[in-house]
Parts: sequence; C-alpha cells; structure tokens
Amino acid sequence: MSNRKSIIAANWKMNITPSEAESYLSSFLQTFSEPTAVDIVLGASFVTLAKASKHITPNAAVDLAAQNMHPEANGAFTGETNAAMLKEVNCDYVILGHSERRSLFGETDDFINQKVHAVLNAGMKPILCIGESLDEREGGQLESVLSGQLKGSLANVTADQMADIVIAYEPVWAIGTGVTATPEQAQDTQAYVRSVLAEIFGDEVAGATRIQYGGSVKPGNAADLISREDIDGFLVGGAALDPDSFAQIVQAGIDDAA
Ligand code: PGA
Repeated sequence: MSNRKSIIAANWKMNITPSEAESYLSSFLQTFSEPTAVDIVLGASFVTLAKASKHITPNAAVDLAAQNMHPEANGAFTGETNAAMLKEVNCDYVILGHSERRSLFGETDDFINQKVHAVLNAGMKPILCIGESLDEREGGQLESVLSGQLKGSLANVTADQMADIVIAYEPVWAIGTGVTATPEQAQDTQAYVRSVLAEIFGDEVAGATRIQYGGSVKPGNAADLISREDIDGFLVGGAALDPDSFAQIVQAGIDDAA
C-alpha cells in the first residue's frame, strides 16, 4: 500500500457488445453505486463506449477507457477513431501500446508516443502499457526492454503531464495465459519501472505515478498483488468479462486502501 490512489481497469478487448455492456453495467453499478477508494475504469470497444456512456453519470463510480486512438485530429484514416470522437462519448482514459497492438498490429514506441501526446493534448489520460516477452526476460533483456519502451513511448512528455499518465506493466507471457507473475516478480519489476521514471522525471514524479500490474489477474490473486508497494492497481482482461469477478478484484483494491 502507498499514498497513490489505486486504479483498477477492465480491458474488455474485442468482447462485450453494446447490449451486453448495458447488462454488465446495471449489475456492476449496483455493487458500486458511488465513487470508491479506488478509481475504476472500463475499457470498451468503440461502439460499446457510445452505449456505455449513456449509463455513466458525472458522479458515477466508473470511468470509461478506449482501447486505442489515432494520433491525428482527423482526415483520411479509414477505420480509425480520433480524440474528439472519444471525448464525445465521455471517455476519460485511453489504453495505449497494449502488447496485442504492439505484436498483432505492429505499433512501435514512436507511434505510441504520438498517441500519448494526442491523448494528453485532448485532455484525456493515457494508460500506457509496457511489458517483456518470456524470451526477453529469460534472455536477460527485461530491463533494457522496459526502459526502452518507457523512454520511447514517453519521449517529450513533461513532468507535469505525468500526473495524467498511468503505466500498466504487463508481462506478455502472463497475458491471457493463466500464468500470473508472482507478487515478488511483479513488485521487483515495477520497482524497476519506477526507477526508470525517476531517471527520466525525478523522484517526486516517479513516486506519484500509478503503475498497474496486468496479466492473468483474478479474484484469487488480486489481494496479494495489490498489497505490494509498487503495485497501484490492475489492468484486467479475462477476469473482467464477468461483472461479479471484476467486482471482487475491485473490492480487493478497496480493502487494500482501507
Ligand atoms: P488478462 O489480460 O487479464 O486476460 O491476462 C490482461 C490484458 O491484456 O490487459
């Protein structure tokens, strides 16, 4: 536990249709009818965001996140979505640089960096994902990969802007595999991530930045993970598809803050 407010986000990926989101929200918002000790975020597909936003009042317990955004303001970018469109559907956060976007859609740190700036300039908050593959970890490249991703994706970001950025550390080998990093592995790696932030932005900014863990977080392992000093919340895929399961993970964060 630390003085940083935890942020627990669902990454629904390409799941949950607009009508499914309505029933998810009616159940979830019954459990969390007002703001809690943690920030709760639901990362939905673009069409689902539009529907979900109708159910989120300004003082609701949850905020919405998009799972991607194009850095340009508008123009001939078939199939893409810009910041103005996301703002119009009450989107507060944008998940950027998820490992699936990096590996399946070829996103580079440079492109992710353009998106980080576009999201910040639009007054939204990036959830910037970083993480190493198993080969990289076993090959001794853990630190160079993470520091390269951080320095590349955060190029020309100011210390002041860091207040609006959340980092999600997600080891690629733990995403959707059922293999979770041990709390010790996650803590050690996230302490390293914080040390890189300190190198770039100074100790004060690094100490205030929220760093989520992601990769097979479940109700059964959430409490132990979030009790660690440098783990300030989660980005949850599979276990967030069910509102009751995600509610249990959120509750672990609320209990940790108490
Ligand atoms: P997972 O996904 O919880 O299903 O491992 C996490 C993520 O990809 O953000």
